[in-house]
Amino acid sequence: MQSNPEIAAWTGGRPLRRIVFSEGCIARRVTEIGREIGAHYPREEDLLVIGLLKGSFIFLADLVRQIPRPLHVDFLGAASYGSGTESSGEVRLVYDAEAEIAGRHVLLVEDIIDSGNTVNRLAPILRARGARSLELCALLHKRLAPPLDLEPRWVGFDAPPEFLVGYGLDHSENFRSLPFIASI
Ligand code: IMP
Ligand code: MG
Repeated sequence: MQSNPEIAAWTGGRPLRRIVFSEGCIARRVTEIGREIGAHYPREEDLLVIGLLKGSFIFLADLVRQIPRPLHVDFLGAASYGSGTESSGEVRLVYDAEAEIAGRHVLLVEDIIDSGNTVNRLAPILRARGARSLELCALLHKRLAPPLDLEPRWVGFDAPPEFLVGYGLDHSENFRSLPFIASI
C-alpha cells in the first residue's frame, strides 16, 4: 500500500495495511444516516448534536450537513487511549459541552465503538443533566462490546477487528486527515 504515491502523500510514507472504507462509500452512507436522523426528530423540537472529540470531528462536520433541519452543535472531549492501539479502560472527560442539555433532544456522535467504555461513561452524565432524549450515532461499530448503557440507533458501518485510522480516527494523533478509512 505504501507504494501508492498518492496515499503516501497523506501519510508521509507511513504504511497502511488496506483501505477499508473509501471516501465515496463513506459519503453515501453519511447521506443516508443524515436523512434518517432528520426524519426521526419532530421538526419543531430542539435538537442538539454533540460530537465526541477528537475522533468524530470530520464525521460530525459531514453528518450535520446531511441533516435537513435546524439543529445546534456542541462538543465533548473524552480520551481513553494513550499512544497504543488498545483502550486503557479509563475514560477522562477532557472538554465539556457548553450547551444546556436539560429538556433537549441530544444526539451523541461517536467515531467508533470499540470496548464501549466511552459511551458507558458519558451516557449517564448526559442523562443526569436532564436530556429530553438521548440517542447515539456511531460511524463505526466493532461489535465487540458487551451490551452498552446506550446502544447506537444509527451505525455507519460494522468495523472489522483491526485498528482503523483516517476520517478523524487517529493512531497517536497521526492519520486523522486521511479522507478514507484504512487499517494499520
Ligand atoms: P471505546 O471507549 O473502547 O468504545 O473506544 C472509543 C474510542 O476509542 C473512540 O472514540 C476512538 O477514539 C478510540 N478507538 C477505538 N477503536 C479505534 C480504532 O480502531 N482506531 C482509532 N481509534 C479507535
Ligand atoms: Mg483516538
